[in-house]
Amino acid sequence: MNGKEGIRLNMERFPALFAPIKIGSLELKNRIVMAPMLVSYAHQDGTVSKGVIDYYEARAQGGVGLIVVEAACVDSPAGLEGRGQLIIDSPSCIEGLASLAQAIHKHGAGAFIQLFHAGRQTHSRITGVQPVAPSAIACPMINEEPRQLDRQEIKIIEEKFIKAAQYAWSAGFDGVEIHAAHGYLINQFLSPHSNQRHDEYGGSLENRMRILMNIVKGIRQRVPELAISVRINVDDFVPLGLKESESIKICCHLEQAGINLIHCSCGTYESGLTSIEPASYGEGWKIYLAEAVKKAVSIPVVGGGMISSPEFANRILEKGQCDLVFLGRTLLADPQWPKKVRQGEMESVRPCIRCNQCIGSHFQGMPVSCTVNPHAGRERQFRWRTKAVSKYRSAVIGSGPAGLQAAVSLSRLGLEVTLFEKEDRGGGLMNLAGIPPHKQRILDLRDYLLGQLRQSKVEQLFSYEFKAEDLERFKPDLVLLATGSIPVIPNIEGIEENDYLGLEEILTRKFCPQSQHLLVIGGGENGCEVADFLAQAGNKVTIIEAGRLLAPGMEKKNRRDLMNRLHNRGVAKRLSSQVTKIDKNRVWIAREQEEPEIVEADAIVMAVGYKSYRPLYKDLRQLGDKLYVIGDALRVRGFKSAILEAELTVGMIARDKFGISS
Ligand SMILES: Cc1cc2nc3c(=O)[nH]c(=O)nc-3n(C[C@H](O)[C@H](O)[C@H](O)COP(=O)(O)O)c2cc1C
Ligand code: SF4
Repeated sequence: MNGKEGIRLNMERFPALFAPIKIGSLELKNRIVMAPMLVSYAHQDGTVSKGVIDYYEARAQGGVGLIVVEAACVDSPAGLEGRGQLIIDSPSCIEGLASLAQAIHKHGAGAFIQLFHAGRQTHSRITGVQPVAPSAIACPMINEEPRQLDRQEIKIIEEKFIKAAQYAWSAGFDGVEIHAAHGYLINQFLSPHSNQRHDEYGGSLENRMRILMNIVKGIRQRVPELAISVRINVDDFVPLGLKESESIKICCHLEQAGINLIHCSCGTYESGLTSIEPASYGEGWKIYLAEAVKKAVSIPVVGGGMISSPEFANRILEKGQCDLVFLGRTLLADPQWPKKVRQGEMESVRPCIRCNQCIGSHFQGMPVSCTVNPHAGRERQFRWRTKAVSKYRSAVIGSGPAGLQAAVSLSRLGLEVTLFEKEDRGGGLMNLAGIPPHKQRILDLRDYLLGQLRQSKVEQLFSYEFKAEDLERFKPDLVLLATGSIPVIPNIEGIEENDYLGLEEILTRKFCPQSQHLLVIGGGENGCEVADFLAQAGNKVTIIEAGRLLAPGMEKKNRRDLMNRLHNRGVAKRLSSQVTKIDKNRVWIAREQEEPEIVEADAIVMAVGYKSYRPLYKDLRQLGDKLYVIGDALRVRGFKSAILEAELTVGMIARDKFGISS
């Protein structure tokens, strides 16, 4: 089968997904919409940087039908949500935006930009001014009382949205999307939860949607050819918030006012988990919201959320639940998703594991990065212009995430690569990390990396423990040590190896307790996940943690989700509690200024963390600058750092050893 034939067959397999559609007068080549995602790659003054262009161009080049460029602030500084955010509030932004629109159009994708005002969902430490809102009610997640906008200020904000649409049009965008979802300013006006005004902008639905309707009408009047999309919360999922019945009425009014597209979403900061869902939410779980809107309007409707399989996307389109499907994190993880699906190359799609480190980095005030895709936001950095000489021999020791990524990338660089793995299968700790509830996507990541390895020219030696003597035999020109990490055994009085179970014994079901009382020592992310795993199997579990919080370093949304599950499954916790002694299945627990307490259980599970494992380091040190230690073997930090560090190291080798730069 030739390439064209393959594409034809896949388009037949997913006919609804690859069918063209018209949005107003704009024709899109397929039904795949890149959801707006604030990645914060703009210059500090909010203008478009090279990084912004590279990032969006990579997604356009990947074959998506429509890109909705991330939330761009129409009213800086008050309306900003973060540093590095695009700003669209003066003519000076047009030049950069024009380059961005051009880069997207170059690859045949439609280009919209989202118009945004944060309202009360921002901090004065970001904006330098007190947040503003329809009413002076603080968002509980922000905890900073906003100032109530007066009518004149509301008129000014309406005008800023309309002006922003004019700038977008001047820059060559096909459309704008008004961000009326996720608890930001326009949603705050729509929602009785946050809008308790008594003037013409509050009270009745007609009043609450006045600001949105004025903006839509203003844009329609001033730039009639510009397509307008509105991203709406079909359900706020907060008490007194916007509910389906009212949202549908709003959508009908918007259609009458002449908008071209409705983009359905839900949730606010306060409702927490529903707009950027943690891993436990099912694929397309909120599509019923888009379906309800679609039944009420005749303009195209976009639905989505947690979607990554083309079969699923095609099915919801075929069933008429929506007209277009949005993909967010799936495209952050792999910008080539549409192209690969079209060409029948699903096994080479880099899977999003829903770890939410992307939005986690945003909330830490940093540009967004992705655990599985080290190129996200660094598109130019890894675009090598040439290949290296092929006679250069490299050895990668260890096949966890760092080792696999490094081996594949070195091979792509043109080197001869041998991968050594002492186990009979690759994947390292991904094999364990993918076992607890809702972590299975980590196994997809492992399979993806192993698939990349199989497709590469890397020589693979499994069940082969690399020894110092092998240096003589293989004579590598460089060695990457990626031997990962091993569990820490704490220094506790009386501890004997057979007094406790390790994570591996539990997760691989070498030991399968049921209806037992188990103590998990260590309440970090691993300890909490194994507790979840054991509680799901019907055990009574108690976590003992020396710190004051469980899993404090975990990404917030997935943490909140995990804590809810632990709570619902009756997992007990003992915080600020130090285990001082173990004797078979009894532990001595000390709390500050309290007598130690003896607790007995059926079994004890040790989950106090991991430490670097690099037994070869002493022997390999003699290699000097030919040796690179990467991933957990260098310092335990998890997958994100492991994959990124592997890629950065290969980039450094390309530059330093071969003079190849991007
Ligand atoms: C890093 C990040 C930034 C986001 N920024 C925006 C945004 O600017 N505007 C918006 O409407 N939604 C934003 N979202 C929500 C996404 O558009 C999307 O609705 C959400 O990620 C769920 O879709 P997915 O499961 O396909 O990722 C963001 C999501 C992420 C992960
Ligand atoms: S950081 Fe995690 S959730 Fe975000 S896109 Fe990457 S893999 Fe997906």
